[in-house]
Amino acid sequence: DEAAGWGSPPNTGEKLKREPECHMDPDKLQPNRDHTVLIDINESRDDRFVPYKGQPHAWDNLHVKLPTDFPKNGPKPRWDATVNALNSLKKKASVKDVAMAIMSYNQSYQREWKFHALETYVEQVNKCENNFSILIPKMAELAVRLPHVIQHAIPLLKQNRSHAITLSQVQISCLLANAFFCTFPHRNSTKPHSEYSNFPTINFSNLFGEPSPRKIEKLRALFHYFNTVTNEETRPRGLVTFERICIPPKELPNWQKKTEILTHLQVFSEGFIETEGKGLLQVDFAAKYVGGGVLGNGLVQEEIRFLMCPELIVARLFTEKLGDNECLKITGAQTYSVSSGYSDTFKWLGPYEDDTKRDKWKRRLCQIVAIDALNFHNPKDQYTKENIQRELNKAYVGFRPDPSVPLEYTPDIATGNWGCGAFKGDPELKALIQMMAAAVAGRSLAFFTFRNSAQARELRQIHKLLKTKRVSVGHLYTLLVRYCEEKQHYKSKSVFEFIQDKTGSASSHL
Ligand code: AR6
Repeated sequence: DEAAGWGSPPNTGEKLKREPECHMDPDKLQPNRDHTVLIDINESRDDRFVPYKGQPHAWDNLHVKLPTDFPKNGPKPRWDATVNALNSLKKKASVKDVAMAIMSYNQSYQREWKFHALETYVEQVNKCENNFSILIPKMAELAVRLPHVIQHAIPLLKQNRSHAITLSQVQISCLLANAFFCTFPHRNSTKPHSEYSNFPTINFSNLFGEPSPRKIEKLRALFHYFNTVTNEETRPRGLVTFERICIPPKELPNWQKKTEILTHLQVFSEGFIETEGKGLLQVDFAAKYVGGGVLGNGLVQEEIRFLMCPELIVARLFTEKLGDNECLKITGAQTYSVSSGYSDTFKWLGPYEDDTKRDKWKRRLCQIVAIDALNFHNPKDQYTKENIQRELNKAYVGFRPDPSVPLEYTPDIATGNWGCGAFKGDPELKALIQMMAAAVAGRSLAFFTFRNSAQARELRQIHKLLKTKRVSVGHLYTLLVRYCEEKQHYKSKSVFEFIQDKTGSASSHL
């Protein structure tokens, strides 16, 4: 071992900082110009949240267009028709009735939208789980309460601006019931230049068509969520914050000049970010349209997380696609389900009783950060200075501690092979990038290798080498850039091999 003699390895004894032990309560919840709060903080008591009656609903390009809104001097809102259609579901609620109701206020999609997946769900699953004809009326009732539940315009979290939205879990459930019944106006077109082409889809129509085993499992998870939130005893009683964070380019690190040494790294070859990573800032391997294919066919890390914690799906209503210097941080989402498998083997297993403590704002102590890696259709593209910089910046934007919380109260980070599945990144390169971003952010990493024990071993090794040789982030950056340049000549060499070669023989003050 070339690192022998450099002292004991920076290993396992060092603990990761996790919530609730590592936590500082936020100041009193207060709306301000960077934070929209959809509940009335003065009127709300305990878990009785009163909606904030502020700015009346707005029909413009800065706010979510709700089905209850309408343009000035424009056509009547379609809300009356929506309420009628949804009220009819309180008496009769077969799949056909649901389809008819949804199509009654989405007439231009008559030909396109199909409901075969919903039919298959009812045939295959309905008898043993949530009874469709009992649940649908409850969901319809929840959806039609929208004008009472939300009484303040919801801002769009648009690009190039940091802004947070805090709302109650009941408000989220009402918005999601509306998404299920496809009531959101202007959100159905997926054409390139349509009004919301920069936003993810939110209406659930895509989930109802083409049946597939994946969709059946997704519907099981989602109906379980709706069953929980429509039951007075089990409905959730807290708040959730969605925060778009945009770091101006001038505040991004100059990577080459960074003198930090890597922080602690704990590698787990077993376990998952969302379970064993509890209490840490958990990375969502996101698409730039947050939630990715959750309402379609996608079923990998991000989609699974969104199905287990469906409150995350509401982010799609208001989060414009993420720019390179942006992330979305979600605090307080609850876990409703447990699942097994991945992609085609994914199964909804059953309910999860989330007993995670809440903070002073009644948010579950659960922090998730959505950061989207680059999608390397051609994996060779990742070995360029520009792309390495882009990924370093993106990871840093997600990892940077909240400036209002002292570092000792900032939990560490749970991540893994970010960008290395669907997006075809190189796991060695991406791991180094995340270690560098974490070092500059001053936070340690829990790294989950998704049952790959060889990867776990190699990661521990390279991390130990870089720590004992006290290789700085700036130096590592220079080495990575050199690796890219020399890639042609070292075709067979992996990033780790290259780093080992260059570091193993070098002196300690690199
Ligand atoms: N915990 C730890 N590691 C995991 C977990 C988990 N729960 N799940 C998966 N992995 P991928 P990407 C590992 O493909 O490449 C979605 O559609 C596993 O080794 O989800 O960044 C998004 O919406 C897996 O191969 O992330 C985006 O469109 C690897 O992490 C796109 O995929 C990468 O997981 C993002 O793709």
